[in-house]
Amino acid sequence: MVNVVLNAISRIVLGIVDSVVHGLTVGYILLWDNGLILLNALSWSKRKGSLIPPGKPGHGGKWPEWHPPVEGDSRSACPALNAMANHGILPRDGRNIPFTELNAAIRSTYNFSPTFCWYVPLYMAGVLGRSYSKGTLDLEDISVHNGIEHDASLFRHDTYLSPNGDQGKPCPDLVDGFFKVVKGDKVTVDDLARYSEIRRASSRRDNGQFTLSTFHKLFASSNCATLIRIMGGDIPAIKAWLYEERLVDGFESATRKPWGLTMGTFQTTVLRIEAGIRAKASEDSSLGDLGLGYGEAEVSETSALLGGGAPRKSVAPVNGEH
Ligand code: HEM
Repeated sequence: MVNVVLNAISRIVLGIVDSVVHGLTVGYILLWDNGLILLNALSWSKRKGSLIPPGKPGHGGKWPEWHPPVEGDSRSACPALNAMANHGILPRDGRNIPFTELNAAIRSTYNFSPTFCWYVPLYMAGVLGRSYSKGTLDLEDISVHNGIEHDASLFRHDTYLSPNGDQGKPCPDLVDGFFKVVKGDKVTVDDLARYSEIRRASSRRDNGQFTLSTFHKLFASSNCATLIRIMGGDIPAIKAWLYEERLVDGFESATRKPWGLTMGTFQTTVLRIEAGIRAKASEDSSLGDLGLGYGEAEVSETSALLGGGAPRKSVAPVNGEH
C-alpha cells in the first residue's frame, strides 16, 4: 500500500516538474527568438547566391545527387525532410538520425532560425518519448498520427484513408489539386488558405475518423507558412519539392536574413492563412460536427478538384455490428 501511494506521488511530482520544464523551455525560446528577430531587423539580407557557405550542401546552387527512396528506406509525411534524405543531406535510408543532426541540417538547408531548428526536433523527441541529446529517429516516426501529423494535410491523404496508413510517399493527386487552385505565376498565401479549406472539407466528408484540433489547425497553417516563406512561391521549385521531394539546382531559401526564419516572424503568415480559411462556427464548437460543408468549399467543389464521390470511409464495425 505504501509503495502504491509513493508511486502515485512520484508520478504527480514528475508530471508537475515536466510541465514546469516545458513552460520554462517555451519562455526561453520566446526570449531567444525575439532576440533573433531584433538581430535580423538590424542586419542586411544576404546576397542571392551567398546564403549557403562553402562546404555545405547547396553551396553555389548545387545540391548533392538526388535519387528517390529504395525499398526499406524510411520516409515521413514531411516533404522538407524527405527531400533532404533523397539528396543525402540526411542519411539516404532515413534511419537512426540523431535529433541534433536534424537541427543542424535544417539550419543549413532551409535557413530556419536556430530557435526553430532546436525547438521542432526537441518537440518531436518529446512526442516520441526520447532524449533529444542522445536519441535518434527514423523518418517514418515523425508521422505518428496526431503528434505533429494530422488529418486534412494539403499533400498527404489522412492516415485512416491511406493504404496501411503510410504517410511516407508524395500523393500526386493532392498536389495536382493544389496546382488547380494556384491561378497566378507564384503560389500565394490565399492559395494555401483556399486549399486548406478544401482539404478540411474533403477530409471531413471522406474520413469517418476525422479529427482536427485547434492545435493541429495551427500546425497545419504553420507548415503552409513555412512552404511559402522558405520556397518563396516559386512554382517549378515547389513542384519538384512536392511531387519528387527534390531540391532544384539553384534553390536557396527565400528567407535571406542571417539569423534565418524565426518562429515569431512566420507566425504573421500563419495568422494570415488561418484567417483566410472560411470555417463554419459550428465546426469549431465543442458540439462537434453539425454540418457537412466547410465554409464555402462545398462538396461539389472538393469533388471537382480532388476527384471524389468516394464513399465515406467509416469506422469499421466492432464484433460483427452493422
Ligand atoms: C525537424 C523538423 C521538422 C519536423 C519534425 C517536421 C514534421 C512534419 C510533419 C509531422 C508533417 C506532416 C504534417 C501533416 O500531417 O500535414 C510535416 C509536413 C510538412 N512540413 Fe515539416 N517538419 C520539419 C521541418 C520542416 C521544414 C524545415 C519545412 C520547410 C522547409 C517543413 C515544411 C513542411 C510542409 C510544407 C509540410 C506539408 C504539410 C501538408 O501536407 O499539409 N517542415 N512536417
